Amino acid sequence: MKILRTVRELREALAEPRAAGAAVGMVPTMGALHEGHLSLVRAARAENAVVVLSIFVNPTQFTEAADLAAYPRTEETDAALAASAGVDIVFAPDAAEMYPAGYATTVSVRGPITETLEGAGRGSAHFDGVATVVSKLLLAALPDAAYFGRKDAQQLLVVQRMVADLGIPTRIVPCPTLRDADGLALSSRNARLSGEDRARALAIPRALEAVSAAVLSGETGVAALRARAGEVLIASDLEVEYLAFVDPDTLEEVATAERPVLCAIAARAGAVRLIDNVLLGRDPERREED
Ligand code: PAJ
Repeated sequence: MKILRTVRELREALAEPRAAGAAVGMVPTMGALHEGHLSLVRAARAENAVVVLSIFVNPTQFTEAADLAAYPRTEETDAALAASAGVDIVFAPDAAEMYPAGYATTVSVRGPITETLEGAGRGSAHFDGVATVVSKLLLAALPDAAYFGRKDAQQLLVVQRMVADLGIPTRIVPCPTLRDADGLALSSRNARLSGEDRARALAIPRALEAVSAAVLSGETGVAALRARAGEVLIASDLEVEYLAFVDPDTLEEVATAERPVLCAIAARAGAVRLIDNVLLGRDPERREED
């Protein structure tokens, strides 16, 4: 496995396999790798001859300086995990490589998909930062396919929109959310949870499970679903930022779950902000075939 720091080295390393017709798959990450990231690597491994994993803690998408400072950086362990999952190339640039002196360009996806949920909670700079860095990573590697988790459902939509709008010739592959045995969605931020906060955070997957179960047993009123999730969340003492029931494609609020609905939650457990979501009313893996 190669660890490369510059776009130039990355392009050189990919030139030969690409000329030989090898498919290239890319998994963009901010490191502190966990099984969720590795599941994306496995999906990429299954479909491509060459797998590139990028690790870059992108400063432009952080809207809180403290969050950026506290973001875990574990490059040595990450390299070992990447190698054992079958990554061929780790692309780990520094900030000056991605944003050289004089850098002045932002990719900004406009409209409801960036204005609601995370866009409202964290500010519009967040998705500008994501769209900018993902477009730069895709332009650096020009992969045939890039793999993104449904854990960040809104990010996935923003990336799909950006790739379609800019005509970037990369297929975006959505991948399912991996969870710990207790239901908590895997996240690099979980490492910062105290034992007590982690126990509190379990209310998030429990609330999502409660609404999923209610929909499966025939409840379609969003007011009733909101009340079900609310009961679980209130009991937990979490600081809930949003509990949203939205159209999975436009992120606009909906009143019924007669058609598929994305239920998304953001909450703080102690100092750690967590997000999670579930697609109600349709097997999430069926969406790939849509
Ligand atoms: P990061 O949070 O490191 O996540 C990298 C990828 O892993 C994202 O596509 C995310 O959705 C996916 N992922 C995270 N937790 C997951 C889980 N439990 N199950 C499945 N997939 C999971 O998301 C980012 O980095 C950044 O915003 C990035 C896209 C790299 C741009 O900087």
